Amino acid sequence: MASNWNPDSWKAQEARHLPAYREPEELTQVEATLSRFPPLVFAGEARALKADLAEVAQGKGFLLQGGDCAESFAEFHPDNIRDTFRVLLQMAVVMTFASKQPVVKVGRMAGQFAKPRSAPTEVQGDQELPSYFGDIINGIEFDPATRRNDPARMLQAYSQSASTLNLLRAFSNGGYANLRQVHKWTLDFMGRSPWAAKFAEVSERIGEALDFMQACGINPSTVPQLQGTSFYTSHEALLLQYEQSLTRRDSLTGDWYDCSAHMLWIGDRTRFEGSAHVEFLRGVGNPIGMKCGPSLEPDALLRLLDTLNPGREPGRMTLISRFGHDKVEDGLPKLVRAVKREGHPVVWSCDPMHGNVVKAASGYKTRPFDRILAEVRGFFAVHRAEGTHAGGIHIEMTGQNVTECTGGAMGITDEALADRYHTHCDPRLNAAQSLELAFLIAEMLNLEAQDRSAQAA
Ligand code: PEP
Ligand code: CO
Repeated sequence: MASNWNPDSWKAQEARHLPAYREPEELTQVEATLSRFPPLVFAGEARALKADLAEVAQGKGFLLQGGDCAESFAEFHPDNIRDTFRVLLQMAVVMTFASKQPVVKVGRMAGQFAKPRSAPTEVQGDQELPSYFGDIINGIEFDPATRRNDPARMLQAYSQSASTLNLLRAFSNGGYANLRQVHKWTLDFMGRSPWAAKFAEVSERIGEALDFMQACGINPSTVPQLQGTSFYTSHEALLLQYEQSLTRRDSLTGDWYDCSAHMLWIGDRTRFEGSAHVEFLRGVGNPIGMKCGPSLEPDALLRLLDTLNPGREPGRMTLISRFGHDKVEDGLPKLVRAVKREGHPVVWSCDPMHGNVVKAASGYKTRPFDRILAEVRGFFAVHRAEGTHAGGIHIEMTGQNVTECTGGAMGITDEALADRYHTHCDPRLNAAQSLELAFLIAEMLNLEAQDRSAQAA
């Protein structure tokens, strides 16, 4: 257990990107209520994820982490949860099939509400209001009442997270994720994408493999892994008042866990040394992610790893690089080398979204699909050259047929962005683009697997 730590020791450190709450009594009351609510996850589940990630850190598996940039109260609907879940399942199947390695599935779901913003306020005309910090803090509409930082929103976020998680657990283990259903996961509107046809081929081959196994006596009733799947949740641990209120001592081990999600990550803007966010996460036993952008120096990274994982526990740390398509091959190798030299066991994951935002001519914030792909390719190339494992992908995506990122096989143009641009924050890959990305990652995983068997031979 971390020394000199307690759930509120972060308060003595520098906290950036936390909202100012004008009514302290209201905040205290909400915190007290949340601390009496049931934990959303159990510590044992966080340890199970850590064990899965420890395998990935050793090169035996791949992490798929994805979901909304920001979940919203308005888009809370069972169909949205189902559609995002099934695209993640489709992606995982494609990648498992190609790499013959397990894919650890983690949603940016059931708690991904708080957003760091570059400016604390937003000006429209002659009115200046607090920026939108995510539905757990204030509302997106540019209006003084909605933009007020309202602690009671944390209760609604908790409730939405609990119902989302409940549905995800039901889908994972109640039959929906049964591999026999694989061909039914395709979404209707994906019909025109060439990748939907490719997915149908993969499902066909999986079906044949299952028929063969069934003939040998291996079927979902004898092998539970075929019946369901493990699915974990994660979000950026930004709103520390909320995270602290859901932090509990595990009755089995006596260790502290942040029970708002299985995995929590630290954003690129809050991972500096001396940060309150680093201080908070240092003391909880969950698997931790940390975003690594161009401003992170190798020495600082090593010091942060020593702080967050002094015992060098495998599966504890996932480093999520987010350099941008034109910077990854320059910037990532020095971090990879330093971590390798010091022997820190980490999962290296690639966020190809946050370094690739551009403003389209139409005025929309977008991410060109070819830049996303280029960053993923660069990430794999760096790990291939350094002899390390390209261990995961971290994406902003949705199961909906949105038009937020340009490009992809369906060719979303700048002009088409206006059609279905629904995100509450950053542009997300839609279902077809996510599946397309999965096939391209599958190719790269396949190359890695070939390298491995060539080395073994
Ligand atoms: C995010 O993942 O939504 C995010 C804000 O990313 P980053 O911290 O890498 O900028
Ligand atoms: Co984002």
